[in-house]
Order: sequence, then C-alpha cells, then structure tokens
Amino acid sequence: MIEKTVVLIKPDGVKQHITGEIIKRFESAGLTVVGLKFVQLTQPILDVWYAHHKDKPFFPGLCEQMMSTPVVAIVLSGEGAVEKVFGICGPTDPAEAAPGTIRKDFGVDKPHNVVHRSDSVDAAEKEIGLIFTPAEIFVL
Ligand code: PPS
Repeated sequence: MIEKTVVLIKPDGVKQHITGEIIKRFESAGLTVVGLKFVQLTQPILDVWYAHHKDKPFFPGLCEQMMSTPVVAIVLSGEGAVEKVFGICGPTDPAEAAPGTIRKDFGVDKPHNVVHRSDSVDAAEKEIGLIFTPAEIFVL
C-alpha cells in the first residue's frame, strides 16, 4: 500500500549538515519526497506531537531540544513507507541500531538520535496536519 510518513531532521542532525545525505538515503530506497521545509517547532505543536510522552520525565528536555533550532520536516511517500523509513532510520536508541542506519551512523544517544519518524500511518497523518498545509503536499 502507498503510504505517507514524516521525518524530522532534529536539531542535532541539522547541526551536522547532513540534510542532503539523509534525504538521499530515503530517495535511494525508492521513496518520494512530497513535502519539505524548515519548521520552528513551538510548545503547542509539541504538546500534541508528543502527547503520548507528556507525563514522561524526559518530556521537558525533549521539547527544549526540539525547539533549539528549526528542524527539517520531510513528508515521504511510497509503498510501505512507514516500515521502510523505520528500517532506514534504525531504532530510537543509536546504540541498538545496525551500521548503515541513520541513527547508528550519525546519532549519539536517545535524546540525540538525529531524526524523528512517524510510528504509523495514523501518526503520520496527525503529524502532517500539525505542520503542513494541504497545499504544501505535492502529488507527483
Ligand atoms: S519511550 O518511553 O520508550 O516510549 O520513549 P522513547 O521511545 O525512548 O523516546 C521517545 C522520544 O523521546 C526522545 N527521548 C528523549 N529526548 C530528550 N531527552 C531524553 N532523555 C529522551 N529520551 C527519549 C527520543 O529521541 C524519542 O524521540 P522521537 O522524536 O520519537 O525519535
């Protein structure tokens, strides 16, 4: 099934100047970029984006980090895009990620894991709605 999914290049990724390298990995895997922009995240957006983490002790630090610089927001489309992007990014903790994944190659630890990716098609839909207008998503 053709799915859409969201990747954010987090501030620790933006600072490494690897935006092109990250996009290349998704495009090389056959995924299509259908939305792309810099976004300055805000607390109201993050309250909804990370609502499932709101009661966790790391939530304030996570928000502070995510607002520290603009992030690169990417919407990818393709066959099984959610699972494909998961494989390309690797698991949340870079220490558990396989060589060749983005998080292993460029990540440091859980808070500095370079990219966020949608957990599911439903999560992607919610995330797209939080930071993209319909006119910013292109069907190619
Ligand atoms: S949990 O509790 O297992 O569901 O959380 P986890 O999957 O490990 O992490 C969820 C997201 O929170 C980020 N994270 C942190 N940010 C800042 N500081 C600390 N200590 C921290 N621990 C986890 C982690 O990078 C995940 O972000 P996303 O955007 O989902 O990758």
